[in-house]
Amino acid sequence: MKQEIGKKRIIIAIDGPAASGKSTTARRVAQQLGYTYIDTGAMYRTVTLKALQQGVLDDLRNSPESVSSLLQDIVIRFDGDRVLVDGRDVTAEIRENRVSREVSFISSLKPVRDRLREMQREMGRQRAVVMDGRDIGTVVFPDAELKIFLVADARKRAERRYAELIATTPKGTELPDLDVLEEEIKRRDRDDAEREHAPLRKHPEAHEIDTSDLTIERQVDIVYNLALEIEKDDR
Ligand code: CDP
Repeated sequence: MKQEIGKKRIIIAIDGPAASGKSTTARRVAQQLGYTYIDTGAMYRTVTLKALQQGVLDDLRNSPESVSSLLQDIVIRFDGDRVLVDGRDVTAEIRENRVSREVSFISSLKPVRDRLREMQREMGRQRAVVMDGRDIGTVVFPDAELKIFLVADARKRAERRYAELIATTPKGTELPDLDVLEEEIKRRDRDDAEREHAPLRKHPEAHEIDTSDLTIERQVDIVYNLALEIEKDDR
């Protein structure tokens, strides 16, 4: 859909815990508004994948400041639904469970947050973006015209992630148990909420939406309509 000329271009920040429906909602709302979708979780995942591939995770736990060398010259690019790091397509790899298990640790490091926050602000400079993550409404774009905080029951979130893993994992690969997945998701939420830098928090102005019993269509509709209201107000 094309952006109407003269219409205000806003920033929509969608935050919330793991597998609460942020990326599906953000992608569809962006499509309907003719906005750009930016998945900031994917950015933290690319840095985590790089650390895993270089075998430096244990070193980083001992000396977190050495993460700077990992960030030097890193180029993260979105090409439609594809995610590229240093020119390589990592779309599938960054969703693997080994990345999900380590991403909260990498995301807690200040140099990582500083660098990615700057990249994200640059990506949203022209506005007309829907950005999802943990700290978009609180830290990256506290001036976002629309702030959403999505939540859902932990079991439901684990079931959604499980279905996603079944759909995307090559046949024959062992899948984690649903209970284990739920525990991992809860632990990641705790780690994200308790970290020192840019913890997962609901901005006081954010609209909280519980997606436990909502269809995707319904949750997209709610956010889309809120966005239209704001665009209208500002014309
Ligand atoms: O898709 P899912 O909700 O599982 O996670 P994600 O959005 O891909 O984010 C993965 C991880 O990146 C989170 O658990 C956070 O540790 C981190 N993250 C962050 O710290 N700040 C953001 N703005 C986005 C993600």
